[in-house]
Amino acid sequence: MTESKPEIRSGLDGVYFMESAICKVDGANGRLYYYGYPIDELAAESNFEEVSYLLMNGRLPNLSELSSFRERMRAARAIPGEVIDVITELSERSTPMHILSTAVDMIGSLKREGPDRKSTYIEIISELSSVVAAIGSISATGRYTRPEDSLGHIENFLYMLKGERPNKESVEIMERMFILHAEHSSNASTFSAIVTASTLSDIYSSTVSAINTLKGPLHGGADEMALRMLNDMRGKDIARYVDNTIALGGRIMGFGHRVYKSYDPRATIIKGILESVQPKASAEVRELTKTVLSLEAVMRDKVSSKGIWPNVDLFTGPVYRYLDILPELFTPIFAASRAPGWCSHIQEYWKSNKLLRPTVFYTGEVGKRYVPIEKRQGE
Ligand code: ACO
Repeated sequence: MTESKPEIRSGLDGVYFMESAICKVDGANGRLYYYGYPIDELAAESNFEEVSYLLMNGRLPNLSELSSFRERMRAARAIPGEVIDVITELSERSTPMHILSTAVDMIGSLKREGPDRKSTYIEIISELSSVVAAIGSISATGRYTRPEDSLGHIENFLYMLKGERPNKESVEIMERMFILHAEHSSNASTFSAIVTASTLSDIYSSTVSAINTLKGPLHGGADEMALRMLNDMRGKDIARYVDNTIALGGRIMGFGHRVYKSYDPRATIIKGILESVQPKASAEVRELTKTVLSLEAVMRDKVSSKGIWPNVDLFTGPVYRYLDILPELFTPIFAASRAPGWCSHIQEYWKSNKLLRPTVFYTGEVGKRYVPIEKRQGE
C-alpha cells in the first residue's frame, strides 16, 4: 500500500512548533514587541543590559536588579588567555564569523556549564561582545584591549573594539543597534539554537549552532552582503542592476523577509539613524546613503507589491560604516547583540523540553539487493 503524501511546508514556512511569550513579530503590520514592549520604545528609551534582563526574566528590572545584572555581566567580560591566543592565531587565516564560532566553542569547552544556568546565560551575553571586540581589534591592530570595569556594556564593547574610549554618539547609536538586533522570535539561528538545546546539549554548543546559522547570507550574513552590493551598485543604473540580478535568479540583499510582508520596523529605525547622521557623515557614508535610498525607491516600484520590503540588514551597513566598522564585523556584531534572544529561547524551551525531530516524506526505493562492488555495472 502506498502512503498518501502529507502536506509538506517547504522551509517550515508557517509551521508552529511551540508556544512562546518572548517576542511578537507582527509581519502584516510591521510591528515588533519584546515581552509586549514595542521595539521603538525600547530602542528609544532602554539600554542593552536592561533589554537583556527583560529577555532573560520576562519583565523589566528595578534599579537594584539592573545594577546586580550589570555587575554579573561586567564580571564575565574577560576572555581566557588561551582564547585570545587562538583568535590571534586565526586572525590572518580565517573569517571573523568562523573565529567567533571557534572562540565561543573554546570558552565553553574550557569552562563547562555549571548547575546555575542563569549565570551561564549572563556570561554568554557578555562574552560574545568581548570576543567580537577582540576579533575586530586583533585583526585590525594585532592587539587585544582588556575590558574596562568602569564602562557600561556597549561603551566597553566599543572601547575593546577600537582601543580608545568611544564618544557619546557612537555609544548611543550602538546601544540602539544592539537593542534592535537582540531578539526576533523563531528565526533560523534561534531555531538552530533550540534544536541543539532540545537534545539536552549545553548552552555554549547551542550558541555555536546559532552563530553558524546566523552567518548565512539569507539570514544575518545579509548585512555584510547588502553593504557589498551597495558598493557594487555605486555609479551604475540601479534599476537595471536590480532587473539583471533578479533575472539571473539572484536576491537584492537587505530586502524580503519570511514574516514581514511590510516594512521591517527595525529598518525604519535604522534608516532614521542613518538620516540623522548625514550632516556629520564622511563622503563614503553619504554616497552609500544616496545609493541605498535610490535602491529602496527602485525596489518599492518593482517588488513591494509582492511583499518585499527593506529588512533589518539594509541600512545597518551604512550606519556601521559611519561608526568606522569594517563590513566583515557586521555579522559578528549581529551575533553579539542576538545573544540574549538565543539564551532567552533556550531557557524557555528547556522549561518543557522535547527533542526536536521533524519528519521527511520518503520518495526513494526500498528492497534493493546489495551487489558486491566487483559485480556492479557502473556508469
Ligand atoms: N530580492 C529579490 N527577490 C526576492 C527577495 C530579494 N531580496 N526576497 C524574496 N524574493 C522573491 C523570491 O525570488 C521569490 O520570488 P518567486 O515567488 O517569483 O520565486 C519570492 O520573493 C519569495 O521568496 P522566498 O525566498 O521563497 O521567500 P522566503 O520567505 O523564504 O525568503 C528571505 C526570505 C530568505 C529573507 C528572502 O527574502 C531573501 O533571500 N532576502 C535577501 C537576503 C536577506 O536580506 N536576508 C536577511 C533577512 S533578515 C534576517 O534574517 C536577519
